[in-house]
Amino acid sequence: MDMKKVFENNENWISEKLSGDKNFFKKLSKGQNPDLLYIGCSDSRVTAEELMGVSPGEAFVHRNIANMVISIDLNVMSVLNYAVNQLKVKHIVVCGHYGCGGIKAALEATDMGILNPWLRNIRDVYRIHNKELSKIKNECDREKRLVELNVQEQCINLIKTAAVQKASTKRGITVHGWVFDMETGKLIDLKINFEKILKNIKEIYQLSVDTDLTQL
Ligand code: CO
Repeated sequence: MDMKKVFENNENWISEKLSGDKNFFKKLSKGQNPDLLYIGCSDSRVTAEELMGVSPGEAFVHRNIANMVISIDLNVMSVLNYAVNQLKVKHIVVCGHYGCGGIKAALEATDMGILNPWLRNIRDVYRIHNKELSKIKNECDREKRLVELNVQEQCINLIKTAAVQKASTKRGITVHGWVFDMETGKLIDLKINFEKILKNIKEIYQLSVDTDLTQL
Protein backbone atom coordinates (compact mmCIF):
# COMPACT_ATOMS: atom_id res chain seq x y z
CA MET A 1 0.00 0.00 0.00
CA ASP A 2 1.28 3.42 -0.99
CA MET A 3 1.05 5.61 2.11
CA LYS A 4 1.36 8.76 -0.01
CA LYS A 5 -1.73 7.67 -1.88
CA VAL A 6 -3.63 7.40 1.41
CA PHE A 7 -3.13 11.11 2.07
CA GLU A 8 -4.09 11.97 -1.51
CA ASN A 9 -7.24 9.90 -1.04
CA ASN A 10 -7.93 11.83 2.14
CA GLU A 11 -7.66 15.17 0.30
CA ASN A 12 -10.03 13.89 -2.37
CA TRP A 13 -12.48 12.67 0.27
CA ILE A 14 -12.46 16.10 1.97
CA SER A 15 -13.24 17.83 -1.34
CA GLU A 16 -15.99 15.34 -2.11
CA LYS A 17 -17.64 15.80 1.30
CA LEU A 18 -17.38 19.60 1.13
CA SER A 19 -18.86 19.71 -2.36
CA GLY A 20 -21.94 17.90 -1.01
CA ASP A 21 -22.17 20.05 2.12
CA LYS A 22 -19.74 22.85 2.85
CA ASN A 23 -20.46 22.53 6.58
CA PHE A 24 -19.90 18.75 6.66
CA PHE A 25 -16.88 18.79 9.00
CA LYS A 26 -18.26 21.64 11.10
CA LYS A 27 -21.33 19.50 11.82
CA LEU A 28 -19.25 16.35 12.29
CA SER A 29 -17.05 17.96 14.94
CA LYS A 30 -20.04 19.12 17.01
CA GLY A 31 -20.57 15.63 18.48
CA GLN A 32 -21.94 12.18 17.83
CA ASN A 33 -25.40 10.74 18.27
CA PRO A 34 -25.33 7.27 16.69
CA ASP A 35 -28.36 4.96 16.95
CA LEU A 36 -26.34 1.85 16.38
CA LEU A 37 -23.49 -0.05 17.97
CA TYR A 38 -21.85 -2.37 15.45
CA ILE A 39 -19.67 -5.25 16.66
CA GLY A 40 -17.95 -6.96 13.76
CA CYS A 41 -14.86 -8.91 12.75
CA SER A 42 -11.48 -7.24 12.20
CA ASP A 43 -11.29 -8.94 8.78
CA SER A 44 -10.12 -6.38 6.21
CA ARG A 45 -12.83 -7.46 3.76
CA VAL A 46 -15.74 -6.85 6.12
CA THR A 47 -16.01 -3.10 6.55
CA ALA A 48 -18.56 -1.69 8.94
CA GLU A 49 -19.88 1.58 7.49
CA GLU A 50 -19.37 0.71 3.83
CA LEU A 51 -21.42 -2.49 3.78
CA MET A 52 -24.27 -0.81 5.68
CA GLY A 53 -24.09 2.37 3.61
CA VAL A 54 -23.94 4.62 6.67
CA SER A 55 -22.07 7.90 7.04
CA PRO A 56 -19.61 9.11 9.69
CA GLY A 57 -21.53 9.72 12.91
CA GLU A 58 -24.15 7.02 12.32
CA ALA A 59 -22.51 3.92 13.80
CA PHE A 60 -20.38 3.34 16.89
CA VAL A 61 -18.01 0.55 15.90
CA HIS A 62 -16.07 -2.18 17.65
CA ARG A 63 -14.18 -4.86 15.74
CA ASN A 64 -12.16 -7.82 16.93
CA ILE A 65 -11.24 -11.29 15.69
CA ALA A 66 -14.49 -13.19 15.02
CA ASN A 67 -16.77 -10.49 16.48
CA MET A 68 -16.63 -11.80 20.03
CA VAL A 69 -18.46 -10.39 23.06
CA ILE A 70 -16.46 -11.68 26.01
CA SER A 71 -17.49 -10.57 29.48
CA ILE A 72 -13.92 -10.15 30.77
CA ASP A 73 -12.68 -8.29 27.69
CA LEU A 74 -12.42 -4.76 29.05
CA ASN A 75 -12.25 -3.36 25.54
CA VAL A 76 -15.57 -4.66 24.20
CA MET A 77 -17.27 -4.13 27.59
CA SER A 78 -16.11 -0.49 27.70
CA VAL A 79 -17.40 0.11 24.17
CA LEU A 80 -20.70 -1.57 25.04
CA ASN A 81 -21.25 0.33 28.28
CA TYR A 82 -20.34 3.66 26.73
CA ALA A 83 -22.62 3.05 23.73
CA VAL A 84 -25.56 1.92 25.85
CA ASN A 85 -25.28 4.23 28.87
CA GLN A 86 -23.83 7.42 27.39
CA LEU A 87 -24.65 7.40 23.68
CA LYS A 88 -27.95 5.61 24.35
CA VAL A 89 -27.90 3.58 21.14
CA LYS A 90 -31.17 1.91 20.19
CA HIS A 91 -29.70 -1.05 18.33
CA ILE A 92 -26.71 -3.34 18.85
CA VAL A 93 -25.57 -5.47 15.95
CA VAL A 94 -23.22 -8.45 16.05
CA CYS A 95 -22.10 -9.05 12.48
CA GLY A 96 -20.18 -12.21 11.62
CA HIS A 97 -19.10 -13.33 8.17
CA TYR A 98 -18.71 -16.56 6.24
CA GLY A 99 -15.08 -17.45 5.60
CA CYS A 100 -14.02 -16.01 8.97
CA GLY A 101 -10.37 -16.81 9.76
CA GLY A 102 -11.08 -16.83 13.50
CA ILE A 103 -13.79 -19.46 13.10
CA LYS A 104 -11.56 -21.53 10.78
CA ALA A 105 -8.69 -21.36 13.29
CA ALA A 106 -10.96 -22.47 16.13
CA LEU A 107 -11.97 -25.52 14.08
CA GLU A 108 -8.36 -26.65 13.70
CA ALA A 109 -6.40 -28.67 16.23
CA THR A 110 -3.48 -26.24 16.32
CA ASP A 111 -1.63 -24.34 19.02
CA MET A 112 -2.14 -20.68 18.06
CA GLY A 113 -0.09 -19.25 20.93
CA ILE A 114 -1.44 -15.98 22.33
CA LEU A 115 -4.61 -16.49 20.27
CA ASN A 116 -5.52 -19.69 22.16
CA PRO A 117 -7.58 -18.09 24.95
CA TRP A 118 -9.44 -15.93 22.42
CA LEU A 119 -10.22 -18.87 20.13
CA ARG A 120 -11.24 -20.93 23.15
CA ASN A 121 -14.42 -18.87 23.31
CA ILE A 122 -15.28 -19.96 19.76
CA ARG A 123 -14.45 -23.58 20.60
CA ASP A 124 -16.92 -23.23 23.51
CA VAL A 125 -19.62 -22.21 21.03
CA TYR A 126 -18.79 -25.36 19.07
CA ARG A 127 -19.12 -27.45 22.22
CA ILE A 128 -22.49 -25.93 23.14
CA HIS A 129 -23.82 -26.72 19.65
CA ASN A 130 -21.83 -29.90 19.07
CA LYS A 131 -24.94 -32.01 18.55
CA GLU A 132 -26.21 -29.90 15.67
CA LEU A 133 -22.78 -29.24 14.15
CA SER A 134 -21.59 -32.84 14.16
CA LYS A 135 -24.62 -33.80 12.06
CA ILE A 136 -23.45 -31.53 9.24
CA LYS A 137 -21.18 -33.70 7.13
CA ASN A 138 -20.03 -31.07 4.63
CA GLU A 139 -17.10 -29.19 6.21
CA CYS A 140 -17.90 -25.92 4.46
CA ASP A 141 -21.52 -26.01 5.62
CA ARG A 142 -20.44 -26.87 9.16
CA GLU A 143 -18.09 -23.89 9.23
CA LYS A 144 -20.84 -21.60 7.91
CA ARG A 145 -23.25 -22.83 10.56
CA LEU A 146 -20.64 -22.19 13.28
CA VAL A 147 -20.32 -18.61 12.00
CA GLU A 148 -24.09 -18.20 12.49
CA LEU A 149 -24.17 -19.92 15.88
CA ASN A 150 -21.24 -17.83 17.04
CA VAL A 151 -23.13 -14.65 16.16
CA GLN A 152 -26.14 -16.00 18.06
CA GLU A 153 -24.04 -16.80 21.14
CA GLN A 154 -22.40 -13.36 21.08
CA CYS A 155 -25.88 -11.79 20.95
CA ILE A 156 -26.76 -13.86 24.01
CA ASN A 157 -23.55 -12.65 25.67
CA LEU A 158 -24.72 -9.07 25.08
CA ILE A 159 -28.09 -9.86 26.64
CA LYS A 160 -26.32 -11.31 29.70
CA THR A 161 -24.86 -7.88 30.51
CA ALA A 162 -26.42 -5.53 33.06
CA ALA A 163 -26.14 -2.61 30.61
CA VAL A 164 -28.34 -4.28 27.99
CA GLN A 165 -30.79 -5.72 30.54
CA LYS A 166 -31.34 -2.33 32.18
CA ALA A 167 -31.59 -0.43 28.91
CA SER A 168 -34.11 -2.90 27.50
CA THR A 169 -36.55 -2.41 30.38
CA LYS A 170 -35.93 1.31 30.94
CA ARG A 171 -35.96 2.68 27.40
CA GLY A 172 -35.92 -0.17 24.87
CA ILE A 173 -32.93 -1.50 22.98
CA THR A 174 -32.67 -4.32 20.46
CA VAL A 175 -29.88 -6.80 19.73
CA HIS A 176 -29.53 -8.03 16.15
CA GLY A 177 -27.46 -10.91 14.72
CA TRP A 178 -26.24 -10.58 11.14
CA VAL A 179 -23.91 -12.44 8.81
CA PHE A 180 -22.08 -10.87 5.87
CA ASP A 181 -21.72 -13.16 2.86
CA MET A 182 -18.55 -12.09 1.05
CA GLU A 183 -19.34 -14.20 -2.01
CA THR A 184 -22.46 -12.17 -2.78
CA GLY A 185 -21.98 -9.01 -0.72
CA LYS A 186 -25.28 -9.70 1.02
CA LEU A 187 -26.00 -8.86 4.62
CA ILE A 188 -28.17 -11.61 6.15
CA ASP A 189 -30.37 -10.97 9.18
CA LEU A 190 -30.35 -14.13 11.33
CA LYS A 191 -33.56 -12.86 12.92
CA ILE A 192 -32.39 -13.45 16.48
CA ASN A 193 -35.48 -13.46 18.71
CA PHE A 194 -34.23 -10.86 21.19
CA GLU A 195 -37.32 -10.80 23.42
CA LYS A 196 -37.45 -14.60 23.64
CA ILE A 197 -33.75 -14.94 24.52
CA LEU A 198 -34.10 -12.22 27.12
CA LYS A 199 -36.96 -14.05 28.80
CA ASN A 200 -35.25 -17.44 28.56
CA ILE A 201 -32.01 -16.38 30.19
CA LYS A 202 -33.76 -14.57 33.02
CA GLU A 203 -33.58 -17.38 35.52
CA ILE A 204 -29.79 -17.60 35.45
CA TYR A 205 -28.47 -14.32 34.13
CA GLN A 206 -30.76 -11.61 35.46
CA LEU A 207 -28.51 -9.01 37.08
CA SER A 208 -30.86 -6.54 38.66
CA VAL A 209 -33.88 -6.91 40.90
CA ASP A 210 -35.25 -3.71 39.37
CA THR A 211 -35.15 -5.26 35.94
CA ASP A 212 -37.81 -7.90 35.54
CA LEU A 213 -36.95 -9.39 32.18
CA THR A 214 -40.25 -11.24 31.97
CA GLN A 215 -42.24 -8.01 32.04
CA LEU A 216 -41.14 -6.80 28.60
CO1 CO B 1 -13.58 -12.90 10.61
